[in-house]
Amino acid sequence: MKYKGSAYIHTIGCQMNVYDSEKLAAILNDYGYEKTDDLDKADIVVCNTCSIRHKAEEKAFSFLGRFARIKKQKPHLITVMAGCVAQQEGKKAFKRVPHLNIVLGTQAFSRFGQLIETVQSGKERVVDIAGSQKIYEALPDTSVAFGCDENKISRFVTIMQGCENFCTYCVVPYVRGKERSRKPESIVEEINCLAKSGVKEITLLGQNVNSYGQKEGGISFPQLLSKINDINGIHRIRFATSHPKDLSMDLIYAIRDLEKVCNHLHLPVQSGSNKVLKKMNRGYTREKYINRISDLKKHCPQIALSTDIIVGFPSESKDDFNDTMNLLHEIEFDSIFAFAYSDRSSAPAAKFSDQIDERQKRDRLNALLQLQERVTQKKNNELIGSIIKVLVEGKSIKKRDGFEQNSKNMKQMAGRSESNKIVHFPSEHDTIGDMIKIKIEDAYPHSLWGHPAGA
Ligand code: 5AD
Ligand code: SF4
Repeated sequence: MKYKGSAYIHTIGCQMNVYDSEKLAAILNDYGYEKTDDLDKADIVVCNTCSIRHKAEEKAFSFLGRFARIKKQKPHLITVMAGCVAQQEGKKAFKRVPHLNIVLGTQAFSRFGQLIETVQSGKERVVDIAGSQKIYEALPDTSVAFGCDENKISRFVTIMQGCENFCTYCVVPYVRGKERSRKPESIVEEINCLAKSGVKEITLLGQNVNSYGQKEGGISFPQLLSKINDINGIHRIRFATSHPKDLSMDLIYAIRDLEKVCNHLHLPVQSGSNKVLKKMNRGYTREKYINRISDLKKHCPQIALSTDIIVGFPSESKDDFNDTMNLLHEIEFDSIFAFAYSDRSSAPAAKFSDQIDERQKRDRLNALLQLQERVTQKKNNELIGSIIKVLVEGKSIKKRDGFEQNSKNMKQMAGRSESNKIVHFPSEHDTIGDMIKIKIEDAYPHSLWGHPAGA
């Protein structure tokens, strides 16, 4: 396809959106648009949106809103709202952003190219949020479009989409649709291709990876992990997200036995209170969650754990909140992602009584984060003196005090441990993509510092 112009893609939200943006870039590439990081040069601007919380949704509208003025000077500019907010709003999006050209829902990505052509042929506004059973297979291969990307060490691969768990706070079942799994052959082929282009680490994505393939009657998630474990060139396999109610013993054994699968599990608990868990429709109790963690630790004693927490869910009392605080004390997660509950009109909890006021939510969030910072610091301190394997991702953005004076010919590099902790260390060479052993000397809540072992 001959060159038509430049495309700028702005991504808001989760890892799946990052992956989706790569797919959109690949389609744009097929239609003659080259990716640019310079907004001023763009002939097409895509905002890939997230609707999980109010703030993310507002970010999307505010980003796209600013093109009203720019389009006056550059009338040929095509503006696109893609992803979850697009799927949720449909043509209503034009009310808030009248200058928008394309509303592209999560279910309509495979038709993006045709929509661009429709706009180019003179139609000012098009919207597509129709359903599709296919996920990704009909889309171009991303590794071709992104072959020259700088950070090729670690990549996401979506293995399934949608969710039918209907947690009462969550928009995902409404904006991502019913659960669908990709075919194992197609996933393996994509990862093979990524491995050949130099990728060393893969993170498999799905809203609930534990139920991978169940509907389709194909292989299970642990069996898929085993197939990916056999791919040459891939050194590490991560995955997210696991639902505690579906965490199987087979998955625990896969983490224990498959050497490339990282010794790390992200297992969102959301709350430590049984009352709140029930209202959230999570399908497990605090006790059941703790039991799963015990099983996990029995078979994988070194496992690193992370979780998601929502504070200020409707009717969350002080006692309920304390139950969550106590759970963090008891389990000692390596890290957490914590959020203040955000009302989403399409999710049932928006209609629940006893909504918690914003200030209280903020106070609870701060208390929770402070507690976790102490826990993370304690866990990271325990690593001082140990030697851990790090996959080197690039140069450190952070500079260590006194680093330059002490080590003139050294570069300061950064990578991640198997447990997903950021590790900084000095090195004479660009070791990007290498797996190296680092002796940990210093620990902070958000990073570890050390030297190559033996150096
Ligand atoms: N408000 C706050 N946090 C939410 N999450 C999902 N929906 C909401 C909401 N309405 C959080 C959950 C989930 C993570 C991806 O986002 O903790 O695990
Ligand atoms: Fe949302 Fe619950 Fe599905 Fe996760 S499991 S995507 S929180 S509905």
